[in-house]
Amino acid sequence: MQTTPQNTSSNPPKTTSNGESKPTEDRRDVLRARLNDLNEEAFVGGGADRIEKQHAVGKLTARERIDVLLDTGSFVEVDRLRTHRCLDFDMDKKIVHGDGIVTGYGLVEGRQVFVYAQDFTVFGGSLSETVAQKICKISDMAIKMGAPIIGLNDSGGARIQEGVASLAGYAEIFCRNTMASGVVPQLSVIMGPCAGGAVYSPALTDFIMMVKDTSYMFLTGPDVIKTVTHEEVTKEELGGATTHNAKSGVAHFAFDNDAQAIAAVRTLLSYLPLNNGEDPPTVPCQDSPNRRDEKLKTIIPTSPNKPYDVREVIKGIVDDGHFMEVQEHFAQNIVIGFSRLMGHTVGLVCNQPQVLAGALDINASDKAARFVRFCDCFNIPILTLVDVPGFLPGTEQEYGGVIRHGAKLLYAYAEATVPKMTVILRKAYGGAYCVMGPKHLRADVNLATPTAEIAVMGAGGAVNIIMRNELKNADDPTAKQAELVADYEQKFQNPYKAAELGYIDEVLPPEELRPRLCQAIRLLQNKRDANPPKKHGNIPL
Ligand code: HXC
Repeated sequence: MQTTPQNTSSNPPKTTSNGESKPTEDRRDVLRARLNDLNEEAFVGGGADRIEKQHAVGKLTARERIDVLLDTGSFVEVDRLRTHRCLDFDMDKKIVHGDGIVTGYGLVEGRQVFVYAQDFTVFGGSLSETVAQKICKISDMAIKMGAPIIGLNDSGGARIQEGVASLAGYAEIFCRNTMASGVVPQLSVIMGPCAGGAVYSPALTDFIMMVKDTSYMFLTGPDVIKTVTHEEVTKEELGGATTHNAKSGVAHFAFDNDAQAIAAVRTLLSYLPLNNGEDPPTVPCQDSPNRRDEKLKTIIPTSPNKPYDVREVIKGIVDDGHFMEVQEHFAQNIVIGFSRLMGHTVGLVCNQPQVLAGALDINASDKAARFVRFCDCFNIPILTLVDVPGFLPGTEQEYGGVIRHGAKLLYAYAEATVPKMTVILRKAYGGAYCVMGPKHLRADVNLATPTAEIAVMGAGGAVNIIMRNELKNADDPTAKQAELVADYEQKFQNPYKAAELGYIDEVLPPEELRPRLCQAIRLLQNKRDANPPKKHGNIPL
């Protein structure tokens, strides 16, 4: 840690007759030299030893991370010379210009973004009042200028020497995160420690990327847990990238190193508008909108019980098969992510028949609901691919509040005013039909394949309930049941009843989905829809 250089000038400044200082060539040189010193000091942060330590554990420094993130030469630093104001614990003798964080703005693929990178080499990247003010300053600028905020987190938490001033700083940041929510995209990359209440800033942002083995997030660490609950757990097991990506659902992406995580930030930004007043960017598309993918003819099995990977269907439909999956490891019974149709960003929400037969449960509902709301905030059309046997039954789900969680998804679809396209690939049963973007929740284009099954429940279950007496009185109950099931399937287990009622606009073979969805995205470009005026709704959280 370096101390602030005192007076570096050996010549006293020249003065005029009225006592004002008079700039001379000498004084100019001195001031410039001082600026160079200050900048140099800020650039080395906590010093060469700590930078080496950072590299030794496989982490980049704050400035290196910003370099990787932004277009070359585009970074403009704000507050490089700012210092902390703490006097306790000899802190007045430990001043580093910039104070534990690098903040500013720059370009990603030529588009404006704001960025902050916590500098672990300065007091462990801990959050002082000054660090918080630096984050708040660029957050306020980002909201005003309408550009995304990217936070590169690597911090020991509250600056212990500053006590409650640091806590106040956190709360100020949380407030900015909330104000920015739905106005500009907020992305958090966790590249080191992120513990205690500090986790709530990333949690309030839209997406969290974590780096495996070097990052962790938890409210209370392993030592406290051991004291209170006698559980023994490592930092990685408790709050590492794998835990938060696969178990808790707190994080959205996991990467092997800093560079990969930052590259993913750039890719993710390419799908997003800079703010809620813009449409997402369109990119040139070489993939013909008329392409019929013949593989789609056979990917979806006719047997309702056979699993398949819905990602294969996604690939067959979207531009060049490119799909950026979000929360790949969490609630794998639903697949969400970003893709493009004719160069336009779309958010995909798809049941995954490969996991739990695609049934909806608590985690899948939460995952999809938050994603639908994100897309709606930022004018991203939603494409829903449905193959869902219903909600997962069981006491675990009921006691866990699946009613409340499922309601979130209903709410999210119903309130979304962005273009909504829904395709029923195979099953759409019961309440799950109502949840997964049907016409009744204001979807714009609703399609189904000829093998779609849209009904209250499966034929077997339905016949056992409504034909109980016929079955009981039948001479041959097994043959009677088969006959009644076939009759029910013929009448209800198909897309045609829904098409007759106008709930499905068109039934078409799966290989024709891409051309039709490309026509739909063109149709929906100028869609206008609104919700009744209100302060805000009351989503069942
Ligand atoms: C001040 C801190 C600090 C902190 C680390 N440092 N955390 N300085 N405040 N919170 C300093 C260390 O003193 C050390 O300084 C340097 O940063 C590097 O730390 P090391 O311990 O050497 O690094 P490492 O071994 O990698 O361990 C990192 C760590 C550990 C796990 C983060 O430093 C740690 O446990 N720190 C305390 C974490 C903590 O309890 N934070 C408060 C949480 S409560 P030198 O000069 O020796 O290099 C909280 C409340 C927020 O954050 C509430 C918001 C609502």
